[in-house]
Amino acid sequence: MILLEAMNGIAPSGIRVGCRSIREEDEAFLLPREARSIPSRHPARRRASGAARRVAHGLLAELGLHDIAILRSSAGAPLWPDGITGSLAHDEDMAVAAVAPLSARIGSIGIDVEPAIKLPDDILALVATPDDVTDAVEPSLAGRLLFSAKEAVYKAAYPLDHYMLDYEDIAVDLNAGRAMTKTGRSVRLAYCISPRVVVIAFVGGSGPGGFA
Ligand SMILES: CC(C)(COP(=O)(O)OP(=O)(O)OC[C@H]1O[C@@H](n2cnc3c(N)ncnc32)[C@H](O)[C@@H]1OP(=O)(O)O)[C@@H](O)C(=O)NCCC(=O)NCCS
Repeated sequence: MILLEAMNGIAPSGIRVGCRSIREEDEAFLLPREARSIPSRHPARRRASGAARRVAHGLLAELGLHDIAILRSSAGAPLWPDGITGSLAHDEDMAVAAVAPLSARIGSIGIDVEPAIKLPDDILALVATPDDVTDAVEPSLAGRLLFSAKEAVYKAAYPLDHYMLDYEDIAVDLNAGRAMTKTGRSVRLAYCISPRVVVIAFVGGSGPGGFA
């Protein structure tokens, strides 16, 4: 799959990634405890959550961890087994997941996926701040990538800081592959924009954040 190749091309060392087109009945991949921990009754949301967990279950199995339920915390964050950190995301059509063993020295991960289409101007006005740097990115997708980066940063920072960040609380430098939160958390970014926008935000790890 082309997206998987693109994701593997940007994934920082130690972070395993996967993706899946969301299909009818993917909610069946929710393990019973997972199904109980997800409050949404909306069929599309449950299908997307099932698809993302299907991907994550496969990544955990690669690490020798089988039949692990990834429950949702009361704040919505996924709860990983001891020794693992990770993140889930889905747009209307695609589910993605990223996991890393703590031995990879990754402190936290946030992932986001978006269609590679221009972000509407009214949403960009809510997301962008004067501190954001996006000029290295193709202009038609810079807003979409900025939006996705802030969502990914939020997901990486929340499990560490338990702070509900707003868009204006995150300064993103796409040129440098870094973001800084209002709470002082420095987060590195790896991203691709084709065939979809995917951002992996991570704390810790070795080597520079990747670009594609
Ligand atoms: C986390 C959030 C940004 C995700 O946005 P979304 O577009 O609804 O959904 P996505 O598909 O991108 O991600 C969903 C996944 O995020 C993860 N997630 C949800 N809340 C999370 C949190 N607090 N910390 C880490 N991950 C979280 C879950 O794994 C969820 O998957 P699930 O529903 O299958 O369990 C959003 O739900 C949220 O909590 N927003 C409040 C804060 C905010 O919007 N700030 C402005 C952005 S910085």
